Amino acid sequence: MIGLFDALARPILHALDPEDAHRLAIRLLKFAPLPRPARDDARLAMRVFGLDFPNPVGIAAGFDKNAEVPDALLRAGFGFVEVGTITPLPQDGNPRPRLFRLDADAGVINRLGFNSQGADAAFRRLASRAHSHPAPASGGIVGINIGANKDTSDRIADYVALIERFAPVASYITINISSPNTPGLRNLQQAAALDDLLSRVIDARERAAPNAGRTPVLLKIAPDLSLPDLDDVVGIARSRRIDGMIVGNTTVTRPASLRDSATAKQAGGLSGAPLLALANRMLAETYVRVEGVFPLIGAGGIDSGNAALQKMRAGASLIQIYSGLVFRGLGLVVEIKRALLAELQRDGRDTLNGLIGADAASTTAAPWPH
Ligand SMILES: Cc1cc2nc3c(=O)[nH]c(=O)nc-3n(C[C@H](O)[C@H](O)[C@H](O)COP(=O)(O)O)c2cc1C
Repeated sequence: MIGLFDALARPILHALDPEDAHRLAIRLLKFAPLPRPARDDARLAMRVFGLDFPNPVGIAAGFDKNAEVPDALLRAGFGFVEVGTITPLPQDGNPRPRLFRLDADAGVINRLGFNSQGADAAFRRLASRAHSHPAPASGGIVGINIGANKDTSDRIADYVALIERFAPVASYITINISSPNTPGLRNLQQAAALDDLLSRVIDARERAAPNAGRTPVLLKIAPDLSLPDLDDVVGIARSRRIDGMIVGNTTVTRPASLRDSATAKQAGGLSGAPLLALANRMLAETYVRVEGVFPLIGAGGIDSGNAALQKMRAGASLIQIYSGLVFRGLGLVVEIKRALLAELQRDGRDTLNGLIGADAASTTAAPWPH
């Protein structure tokens, strides 16, 4: 069924302007009658942040920004879905064109700038879903990625309000301070601002707990942090007892290897295959600093089963994909799960836990990727 969906949809999607193609993909998922997938092999199950994931392959934030199709994505075989980024008020984002495919590099550049229908629209959808599955986790794991409005007068207040609102309908919440497309947002990664943000975010989570339970809170960082800045970020995340981190978002750097050098000049965040080496390096650097205190989600550049394995070995307990889907279709999810199982078979193991971070030390010892 997924193969048929890909075979029909991908040629059409590739002929379109990338943003029109994305809209059509959401519409297809909304109306396509995807059947419930076969139950995942029990060896793919992961318990992370106190949640039971049927498999470790998630769809990253930015695909379903407005929480329109989380259940269709779960039916397509993802182990979890992260919706968002959701901002408190609706906003248009940057003018089009703002999404570009680098076909020769299997990369994507976007400068969408948090186009969002706003909290009310997303909340209505998520609340009706949570209503049909009383405990969010039992109906499939749906994380909610939140961000500040571009024109807000108090960014931290935006995060606090969104946590209080969404905690009751979220399996987990991601604090996104790493989008390169909202001017100034990434300054929240600096030590003093981050400490203030996380202390207020954790207070908001505690206030929501009587109603929502203890919702895990994750921090999503940029792959472009310097290592001294990463020291600070991990130190503060540990001292404020964040539940995990996502490493990471798109990069504003442009690797010298890019072939589509004309499109590479577009402003925005680069994702997809050209991001893999940098994202893996930052993931491993984060893993060695976290010392097992909390788990990590690895995102950036996964476009094959092998890349997914590399990501787990660099330190990811769970992985997320987005750009790889643009080039490989939903069949990529099937391929990754097969590759993970084949690896377990080869090693004679019955859980993925032994893979996590196995290559972190050697990754951090290698020359810096360019
Ligand atoms: C078109 C597009 C939109 C994105 N929007 C968001 C977003 O709203 N919030 C966010 O945290 N990350 C966003 N991302 C970043 C992805 O979640 C992911 O971290 C990044 O693309 C790296 O993964 P990939 O190489 O598999 O795409 C977006 C990425 C793309 C390509």
